Amino acid sequence: MSVDLIDELEAGELSIEFEGEEPQVVLEWAFKTFGSKIALSTSFQADSVALIDMAYEIEPNVRVFSVDTGRLPAETHELAERLRERYPLMNLEIISPNADEVGAMVTKHGPNLFQKQVDLRLLCCNVRKVRPLTKHLHGLDAWVTGLRRDQWASRTNIRKVEIDHDHGAIIKLNPLAEWTEEEVWDYIRERDVPYHSLYDRGFTSIGCAPCTRAIAPGEASRAGRWWWESNAPKECGIHCSVESGGLEHELHALIGDRSE
Ligand code: ADX
Ligand code: SF4
Repeated sequence: MSVDLIDELEAGELSIEFEGEEPQVVLEWAFKTFGSKIALSTSFQADSVALIDMAYEIEPNVRVFSVDTGRLPAETHELAERLRERYPLMNLEIISPNADEVGAMVTKHGPNLFQKQVDLRLLCCNVRKVRPLTKHLHGLDAWVTGLRRDQWASRTNIRKVEIDHDHGAIIKLNPLAEWTEEEVWDYIRERDVPYHSLYDRGFTSIGCAPCTRAIAPGEASRAGRWWWESNAPKECGIHCSVESGGLEHELHALIGDRSE
């Protein structure tokens, strides 16, 4: 199938076709369809390591990329090393944010700007994560994520095959959309997949060190992300464009019209 032929209608049809199918079925189709122009995005969370394991079984040279925001916990880097050992043929690319943009941002607002107001938190996520990820996606026809419907309200309607209008209308695949957190962990245990050590310390969703904490019993799994914020989306902006005048204003003040 030619990539050009996948329009909104076809993506919808494929999503229906893949509903009820195992994630590997989506991955097999995806690797066959997109060849070297597809990559797995990884945050090194449980969903991501399960996906890497599945993808490696199908295509050992699988392209995988992760945006290293510069504020990740040491445990994330330790896991990256363990994964490199376990999956030696995997092509893991570590993407960095633009150093000038980060420098300008922390010079103006301080290194811990995210604690000061929601717009500054969104600015930090944008500069450190969204912009480098968006730039990386420019070279791809499709990307794979570890998104699941049971993660948060904003994710309940995701489909397995989507057109990603926030990123140049490339294809976005969410093979784990239907899985529950429990199914992911069953897979990890069964296959003895290396996983992030912070899960054993009460963390249930893991991003940057200063913006992630363990959850208390009974709290939702993403409650530990940007936990001090109320009335703000528990999203960084890579999966949905976050509309905020303050963010746009700050971004423009920092980097002007430069778009990469
Ligand atoms: S986030 O928007 O809050 O950061 P989350 O941590 O739930 O997202 O991760 C959801 C999916 O987004 C991951 O499974 C992965 O596919 C992708 N992702 C998240 N963070 C990164 C990152 N730093 N680099 C690459 N992909 C990422
Ligand atoms: Fe910045 Fe926190 Fe977003 Fe990481 S999660 S990019 S430190 S605001």
